Amino acid sequence: MAEIDKGAVVEALKAVRVDQLGTDIVSAGWVRDAVVSGGHVTFAIEVPPELGPQLEPVRAEAERVIAALPGVAQVTAVLTADRAAGSAPPPPPPPPPAGAAGHGHGHSHSHAPRGPAPGMMGHGGGTGRLELPNIKHIVAVASGKGGVGKSTTAANIALALARLGLKVGLFDADIYGPSVPRVMGLAGQKPMARGDRIVPLRNHGVTVMSIGFMVEEDSPVVWRGPMVVGALEQLLRDVEWGELDVMIVDMPPGTGDTQLTMSQRVPLAGAVIVSTPQDIALLDARKGLFMFRKVEVPVLGIIENMSYHQCPKCGHREELFGHGGARRTAEELEAPFLGEIPLDLKIREATDAGRPIVVAEPDGPHATAYLDIAKSIWSTLSGDSPEAQPAKKKPRFWFR
Ligand SMILES: Nc1ncnc2c1ncn2[C@@H]1O[C@H](COP(=O)(O)OP(=O)(O)O)[C@@H](O)[C@H]1O
Ligand SMILES: [Mg+2]
Repeated sequence: MAEIDKGAVVEALKAVRVDQLGTDIVSAGWVRDAVVSGGHVTFAIEVPPELGPQLEPVRAEAERVIAALPGVAQVTAVLTADRAAGSAPPPPPPPPPAGAAGHGHGHSHSHAPRGPAPGMMGHGGGTGRLELPNIKHIVAVASGKGGVGKSTTAANIALALARLGLKVGLFDADIYGPSVPRVMGLAGQKPMARGDRIVPLRNHGVTVMSIGFMVEEDSPVVWRGPMVVGALEQLLRDVEWGELDVMIVDMPPGTGDTQLTMSQRVPLAGAVIVSTPQDIALLDARKGLFMFRKVEVPVLGIIENMSYHQCPKCGHREELFGHGGARRTAEELEAPFLGEIPLDLKIREATDAGRPIVVAEPDGPHATAYLDIAKSIWSTLSGDSPEAQPAKKKPRFWFR
């Protein structure tokens, strides 16, 4: 069957009317980012923020209309809302750590989440747990804020787990700045549909899926968290992950409702918190830790990233942000300390080139550090560690 084209998708969407407007979604100029790939159609419906919560039926109708077209195997429609004039501006991006030589993709963090309006939860479909029986352990990699190296850490841990001989998936749930396609050397690629399933991409021995494959990376929209949860769930459910020993999830930064919903809907085996030393000082990492404990997701441990800087010429070790904060915080909070990764230009260059350091320099000291972290995570998951159930204990104190 011939593949449907973008024009036909837009044409068909003219049948989707919005009662509140007295017109259709195409005439209203709401249809964005339509992508057709191997019978899989994705598009965004960009709606006025104040109407957002009421428009779920319109989104569902748009999906139905496109699904009925010949040549369409699968449809993913998401509601998005543009940053409205007069609404709160997004928080400023975090200051680049000294020596990080520019973040390279600072735009990712300029679309920071705004808190969803009260009463908007529940647009992600059901409220029960998603059943993902072929995936043995799902581990969320989280951080208090963006720019701390969460994606870099998630990718390197996934690659290190794969080097231990495990079947590994990496799922990018960071809807505000999906960077896994780039980090894993898969930028610009699109997954294919097989029947009503999506075939994930693979690189460096890891199975990869990202919301970034479905939308333009620089798409000037602010995702409305609760509405996007439905899209994330669809990506988890409808993707042919195959049998996995571990799935690493690159979570959005922060502790918003999206994270909370994800941690309640996805059967997480545990969470790993990534933070920089100064992030620890600002208590952002603690908030993440307490959020996971609140929803009874075991915190597998804390990783201190950009921990110290070692001079490549003389080997001198420079403690940029009062290194060691993560270890102390971990002790204080009774969470395992998983390790520290230095600030090193090589790590950044490897990541930004789509060949994370575990692949680029498999025998180097950084790969070894990630491998040690991966071993420790795996021993907790597989149950041969005394730290196996950190969250089963009641947290002894709470941070607000
Ligand atoms: N240990 C490190 N040393 C040097 N650069 C790093 C390190 N960790 C991350 N980076 C770089 O910092 C930037 C932000 O990292 P990223 O993983 O995208 O953060 P996040 O996912 O938390 O937003 C990227 O350019 C990345 O290459
Ligand atoms: Mg990221």
